[in-house]
Amino acid sequence: MKLTGKVAVVTGGSSGLALASARRFIAEGAFVYITGRRAEVLEKAAKELGAQARPVQGDVSRMDDLDRLYSVVQQERGSIDVLFASAGAGAWQPMGTISEDQVDITLNVNLKGTIFTVQKALPLLNPGASVILTGSAVAHRAFPGLSVYGATKAALRSLVRYWIVELKDRQIRFNVLSPGSIDTAALASLSEEMRNHLKAIAPMGRLGEPDEIATAAVFLASDDSKYVTGTELFVDGGYGQI
Ligand SMILES: NC(=O)c1ccc[n+]([C@@H]2O[C@H](COP(=O)([O-])OP(=O)(O)OC[C@H]3O[C@@H](n4cnc5c(N)ncnc54)[C@H](OP(=O)(O)O)[C@@H]3O)[C@@H](O)[C@H]2O)c1
Repeated sequence: MKLTGKVAVVTGGSSGLALASARRFIAEGAFVYITGRRAEVLEKAAKELGAQARPVQGDVSRMDDLDRLYSVVQQERGSIDVLFASAGAGAWQPMGTISEDQVDITLNVNLKGTIFTVQKALPLLNPGASVILTGSAVAHRAFPGLSVYGATKAALRSLVRYWIVELKDRQIRFNVLSPGSIDTAALASLSEEMRNHLKAIAPMGRLGEPDEIATAAVFLASDDSKYVTGTELFVDGGYGQI
């Protein structure tokens, strides 16, 4: 097992690729805190994950929620080995139709939320801890309608470059994990036509499975990647690479 005895925090871990990652982390021996805004969805996920999972309800864009999360972790486990910041938001808004509200939501969750998810965890992060931010292939290859979302995800790569330098003495690894189109709840609501389009534009000709992100997350979380920091690992069926 690759994460025996480790403590992981997975934001947005009540669904999708983060839930799949929490499941893998537990299978590899970790104790995992999962978060999300909807209490009932979160509780259901925690129940499914079993005794090695602990739900803490909260919104990553709310500072008091993050404070509560880390206070629970500190009281119960004392420190963190793996932080997977996965909670994200985005909406389809082509240039010319972008609304102020949507910009605020997207920046608040993807950028502000990620920054403070990490900053507020710092006192608890152990030497050698792995921090994984959730980017997106559309930060690098334009998908019309997702410019604001893509820009917030592109910013994450910049953040890890700074944090590695600024926190050099802490021996924390920072990496970005960037999915392509993964078959989660976020994509389930799309029309069949759009889903087929997403399959067609990926060189591998299909959507990714949440567990295909989870195995990459285990790699970045574990000592298998102990000399890997500052990278962006694409798990996108080649979409952003061509
Ligand atoms: N699926 C893809 O194709 C794809 C591609 C590239 C990148 N990504 C990124 O991967 C991450 C996960 O996506 P997914 O497709 O797995 O989504 P998902 O299935 O919709 O799950 C999102 C999870 O995040 C939680 N969440 C959303 N906003 C939150 C907030 N403000 N605070 C705390 N939790 C929040 C949701 O629970 P609540 O709603 O209850 O809060 C849910 O548990 C996101 O960052 C997304 O941008 C996804």
